[in-house]
Amino acid sequence: MKFFVDTADVDAIRELNDLGFVDGVTTNPSLIKKSGRDILEVTKEICEIVDGPVSAEVVALEYDAMVAEGRKLAQIADNVVIKLPLTLDGLKACKTLASEGHKINVTLCFSANQALLAAKAGATFISPFIGRLDDINLDGVDLIEDIRTIYDNYGYETEILAASIRTVNHITECAKIGADVITAPANVIKAMASHVLTDKGLAQFVKDAEDAGIKIV
Ligand code: G3P
Repeated sequence: MKFFVDTADVDAIRELNDLGFVDGVTTNPSLIKKSGRDILEVTKEICEIVDGPVSAEVVALEYDAMVAEGRKLAQIADNVVIKLPLTLDGLKACKTLASEGHKINVTLCFSANQALLAAKAGATFISPFIGRLDDINLDGVDLIEDIRTIYDNYGYETEILAASIRTVNHITECAKIGADVITAPANVIKAMASHVLTDKGLAQFVKDAEDAGIKIV
């Protein structure tokens, strides 16, 4: 399973990348706003830190403008993935840009039918938003399962990029179902390493090592 970090905070990306847990990065206009930086400049810096795919999202809503913005974003670096919203214009732009050889992440997916259209439009990644479905009392993880079934039924190669991940349990569920990628904030990915029994066990080992005077180097 690939781990993308969902942020435009270069310090957070660098820290997680040094830990070895960054296979790629996803951003969106809200995350760019939070960074307080220019989209072209911050995307370029992220692409220099990370070898894997870096999703940068268009802001236009109409096909022609989306295609123009997508082409400009793609010029930033070889590892840029153009992120397009799941609208009819976005899907049309996906088909055009994918046919030019660009990698596309179709975002704001909330239904299996939307995911099916994205696969037919040649998307490299589909981003179903788990947390936002949970927010309205639907089950985001069920959507990942439905998309997995549909893509496997027809051999679609579009990768399922589970997004809007809010908890470590979301990641476990996505891994069990077979999502190809998760994208999550750095703090959620780091929290996967935590367990109360690990902390308790380590405290005991530290105490016993001190009591026994164990020295290795
Ligand atoms: O990748 C999509 C993600 O940024 C949305 O997350 O928490 O705003 O629903 P959230």
